[in-house]
Formats: sequence, structure tokens, C-alpha cells
Amino acid sequence: MDEKLKKLYEIASKGVEEEKKYAERLRSLANRIKHPVLQALFKAIAHDSEKHSFILEAIKKYLEQERPLLSKEELEEIKKEISEHIREEAEAIRELNELRSEVDLPQLKLLIEAMLNDERIHHELLVSIQRIIAEKETVEEDDFWDYIWKHSPWHGTPGG
Ligand SMILES: [Fe+2]
Ligand SMILES: [Fe+2]
Repeated sequence: MDEKLKKLYEIASKGVEEEKKYAERLRSLANRIKHPVLQALFKAIAHDSEKHSFILEAIKKYLEQERPLLSKEELEEIKKEISEHIREEAEAIRELNELRSEVDLPQLKLLIEAMLNDERIHHELLVSIQRIIAEKETVEEDDFWDYIWKHSPWHGTPGG
């Protein structure tokens, strides 16, 4: 492992546990605060901290050479599952968009906005995964990940 990856590995190892702790603290704060809007937002952020813990765990495992190839069967399974989820999410995004323009109360707008942002990112990421799987009968491992990266919601416009 080169120096940069070693550093990443150390940060990830430390972060896995830290993010879990942040999540616990936020969750206990959420349980003490009785206001439903703040409670939901704190719980949502706690959830995200847990999510970050999973992500850091994945970085750790990848660096520990845990890199199984995706089989054709697995790709098929992913394809089936995500197309359903994409439809559901597209519907949710439409609904939330509508609600956002209809609801004027800032506290509710905030909650709707928080959810909408998440759904958009889920949607884009799943669509990218679906597109690459659908485009090719057999997906070369490197092509797969390059494509996912290029079309990820965190990487600007397609092809960018
Ligand atoms: Fe985090
Ligand atoms: Fe979602």
C-alpha cells in the first residue's frame, strides 16, 4: 500500500468507529428533544453518520483486498431490484417536488427538502448503475466502476 492509501486506510479505520459514536450521540439527543421536526432531522443525520461508517468500512475492506468480481447472476439480480426502486423513487421525487411548492411552513419545507435531496441522489446513483448494467451483456470490471464513477451524482454531468 502506498503512503496515500495507507493514510486513507488509517482515516477510514478510525472513522468507522467515530461515525458510529456520532450517530449514537445524535440519536440520544433526538430522543431527549421532543420536537418532531428536530427529532427527525437529528435522527436523519444520525442515520447519515451510520451510513458514513458503512462507507468507511467499505474503503477499509477494499484496501484489505476484499474485491470479489460481480457475477453475471449478481448483475441480473441488481438489475431487477433497482429498476423497481428507481420507479418508486421517481414517483416520490415527483410528489415531493409538488409538495415543496405547495407547503409554505418553513419547518415542513425543510423536512421535504431534506428528503427530496436524498431521493435525488439515490435516484441518480441507481440510474447510473442500471445504465451500465443494461448497456452491456457482460460488464468488464474496470469499465463498470469507471462508468459508475463518471456518472455518479458527485461527479458532475455525464461524461464529465
Ligand atoms: Fe459523517
Ligand atoms: Fe430512496
